[in-house]
Amino acid sequence: MSNPSDTYRAFRGAIADFIHNPFHYQESESVRYFPDGLLILDNGQVQAIGDYQTLRSQYPHLEITDYSGKLILPGFIDLHIHCPQTEMIASYGEQLLEWLEKYVFPIEQKFQDPDYAATISSFFLDELLRNGTTTAVILTTIFPKSVDALFTAAKERNMRIIAGQMLMSRHAPDFLLNAPETAYEQTQSLIQKWHHQDRLLYAITPRFAPTSTPEELELAGSFSEYPDLYIHTHLSENIKEIAWIKQLFPQASDYLNVYEQFGLVTERSIFAHGIHLSDSELQRLSQSQSAIAFCPTSNLFLGSGLFNLHATQSQSSPIPVGLATDVGAGTSFSLLKTMGDAYKVLQLQGQSLSPFQAFYLSTLGAAQALHLADKIGNFEPGKEADFIIINPSATPLMKLRNQNQMPPENLSQLADQLFTLMILGDDRNIESTYILGNLS
Ligand code: GUN
Ligand code: ZN
Repeated sequence: MSNPSDTYRAFRGAIADFIHNPFHYQESESVRYFPDGLLILDNGQVQAIGDYQTLRSQYPHLEITDYSGKLILPGFIDLHIHCPQTEMIASYGEQLLEWLEKYVFPIEQKFQDPDYAATISSFFLDELLRNGTTTAVILTTIFPKSVDALFTAAKERNMRIIAGQMLMSRHAPDFLLNAPETAYEQTQSLIQKWHHQDRLLYAITPRFAPTSTPEELELAGSFSEYPDLYIHTHLSENIKEIAWIKQLFPQASDYLNVYEQFGLVTERSIFAHGIHLSDSELQRLSQSQSAIAFCPTSNLFLGSGLFNLHATQSQSSPIPVGLATDVGAGTSFSLLKTMGDAYKVLQLQGQSLSPFQAFYLSTLGAAQALHLADKIGNFEPGKEADFIIINPSATPLMKLRNQNQMPPENLSQLADQLFTLMILGDDRNIESTYILGNLS
């Protein structure tokens, strides 16, 4: 109950979030929805959510921003994206290994220049916000100042991001290689500087096993002495990549085992892609509770393959999964567009992805995969107030399609409207993005 002397900030609209996993619970138990809702904030945190009429009378002193007719959702979480690749998104014609050589490595070299890194980092974070993404797990480059640039820009925006210096010591042009001991020392000082600075968190980031020597992977594993650092890398994305892994690490039983041998498979690991995993690898990922970042626009763009989402969502051996754009192999910053491609990737395998499941994977599901569900992901009181305002009729076509359900009256209308957003929507639907209760 409120203290009458306090004035809280509040937002009125059609409010939806998740309180359970819709892959394992009935959707009606997983989604919380208030067609005419009120979200009340206290100092950047959620104070209460509920039905407008009910809550209004309990809080006499409210400064209300009215978004009636719009959806209010938790901010999106992007589980895997490359900041330096912003400028080379949509580069033609190659699959993973050739695409890295031809387009990615040259653009990452440009991050050696701290001014350029700062300019792109600012652009990149603004683009995330414009698309309704409030938290992201981000790769940068091997240059420590590029990590400073990204964290500095995120701190200025009060964003909760997870990032770290890329570790690369072989199989790339010299300008992108570091001696493992140098990278180790740079990583240590970046951790001291940035991990838990405001909302920022650090991830140990070997690019992928082929570009690190065994020595470097060993050093990467030794950071497990810091209990809450993340480990972020790529796994089993492309068939040629997997054949290369067999040559480079002949003692390993499979791709995941390379990372296992160096202590890099933990509940704080985030593996991008995981398309071509064996049953044994899936079992072991479930045991370790490592997360997989499902990157459908990237997997289609590079022709990498179709991620088997349903294999990761069994009741008996679930693996935490979140959606990710993987720009610049990914073709959009928009998690709405990413959900649409995820739906199509599943359709091609005879699977389905309901709108509630898709939005869950981009909000609470991703927060749980990151062990951040006590802070972000839904509107439970006490959580950080990162949220977005969605206009479901931002284009003439969407206005026509959604004309009879503004706002959706019940869960079935809400599901239909969310589905139109994942199939037709993009940045045009993101009317506003709030970070800790402030308009960004
Ligand atoms: N594997 C190693 N590096 C990369 C990268 O930059 N993008 C993608 N999609 N896969 C990778
Ligand atoms: Zn990637």
